[in-house]
Amino acid sequence: MKIDVLTLFPELFEAFSAESILGRAQNAGYVTINPVDFRSYSTDKHNSVDEPPFGGGAGMVIGPQPLIDAVADVRTEEASIILLSPQGRKFSQEVAQELAEKEHLILICGHYEGIDERVSMLLGADEVSIGDYVLTGGEPAALVVIDAVTRLIPGVLGNRESASADSFSTGLLEHPHYTRPREFMGNSVPDVLLSGNHKEIELWRHKESLRRTFKRRPDLLNSYSFSEQDRSLIRQIVAEEFDRLEQD
Ligand code: ADE
Repeated sequence: MKIDVLTLFPELFEAFSAESILGRAQNAGYVTINPVDFRSYSTDKHNSVDEPPFGGGAGMVIGPQPLIDAVADVRTEEASIILLSPQGRKFSQEVAQELAEKEHLILICGHYEGIDERVSMLLGADEVSIGDYVLTGGEPAALVVIDAVTRLIPGVLGNRESASADSFSTGLLEHPHYTRPREFMGNSVPDVLLSGNHKEIELWRHKESLRRTFKRRPDLLNSYSFSEQDRSLIRQIVAEEFDRLEQD
């Protein structure tokens, strides 16, 4: 996959994408992350990219010319153009999976008050928001999208890091994890994890996934399809949580 990122701050992407799994994915040829400073496409004599908004108001707006020219330069037939914006559709594991199947992404990062509306319209851009809060620019959002998408490209994660049990990909939050030592500041690792009984361990993990989701993100259960076993586990969880409340 190729990911072109149109930004005024290309160094942010160079540092981030050289490390850890993203660095490895690039070295192994699964993905190429190419930051493009769209200021270099400005035809303005001061290389300026922003102007005051028509109609007045606070802040500056990024004009259409440098972005349209930058996209024309990097665009391919297969390219999906994504504009990071708090007004976009909400990013999720499902959207990450959808984007991980593309060959070429062009991410556009806005700054200041925003980007002239004609950029999104002329490019048929898919506007994406990473959440209901406003960032100072699209860069942190683009980094989130790049990270979440790259790890889903087949081959990027080894078997040891498989994405199949991730939170959200199963429709539930992930179960808790433990490592050595067995006892830490008076807290022990649950016995079942030391039992060597893989069936019991799987069942425990699934139950704890259900418990976490039920307690922390019950909204996710609206679109989860419960098996008979899930129903019985949920009944146990409710009883256990009720007992715990009574003890406190
Ligand atoms: N730019 C500013 N805020 C943003 C957000 N929440 N998501 C994506 N891009 C943004």
